[in-house]
Amino acid sequence: MNREMYRDLTPIVSHKLEGKFRESIESGVVCKLDLSSVAFGASLMVNSTKVEERRLRDMDGFFHDQEAYNGADKQELVYRTYYFNFDGMSCAITEMFPGSIGNEFYLTKGHFHEPPEMSEIYIFLRGHGVSVMQNRSKKKPVLIAPLMQGTVVFSPPFYGHRTVNIGRDVLSWISIFNTKARLNYEPIVKEGFRALIVEKDGRATFTMNTSHI
Ligand SMILES: [Fe+2]
Repeated sequence: MNREMYRDLTPIVSHKLEGKFRESIESGVVCKLDLSSVAFGASLMVNSTKVEERRLRDMDGFFHDQEAYNGADKQELVYRTYYFNFDGMSCAITEMFPGSIGNEFYLTKGHFHEPPEMSEIYIFLRGHGVSVMQNRSKKKPVLIAPLMQGTVVFSPPFYGHRTVNIGRDVLSWISIFNTKARLNYEPIVKEGFRALIVEKDGRATFTMNTSHI
């Protein structure tokens, strides 16, 4: 187990969440690149084929605390994604803003792929976050990976995935996936994610979602 992979996150996460990080690192879905000498040009974003924004108004039903969601400013921008389509493979750059609804950190809606065997690779550029990955089979443990600059995450076939910003700054990443992969939000709308990433005593931690079917 390589503790270097989440060294920058240890001041802001609970020991309980560190335990989940160890599980995901040992399962081989995450590794780390040294991006300190790489410059990412904004010009790449200008050439995108599509830009998609998610404001709070687009995310009704995705946060655990519906009352807190109802009271929030729905114009608030949660994340913005720039898509680049190539022949057979696509890539997207997402920037996600910091914030929370109740005690739950800002998150992506999360989805499964159709066909479900299509996987995805994420490369994290800046910020601090966690990736939550869950198999359709409830027998397999939910994976929660630590994210920071240089983290590479492999979201395996048959796993739904969501990204959560647990930091105070923008979290951004590149994702690479098969152009034919359709995004299936239905199981998330219906069942939610099995683990929720929340703030407790000033640190990020996870709690199991009791309303998950
Ligand atoms: Fe995906």
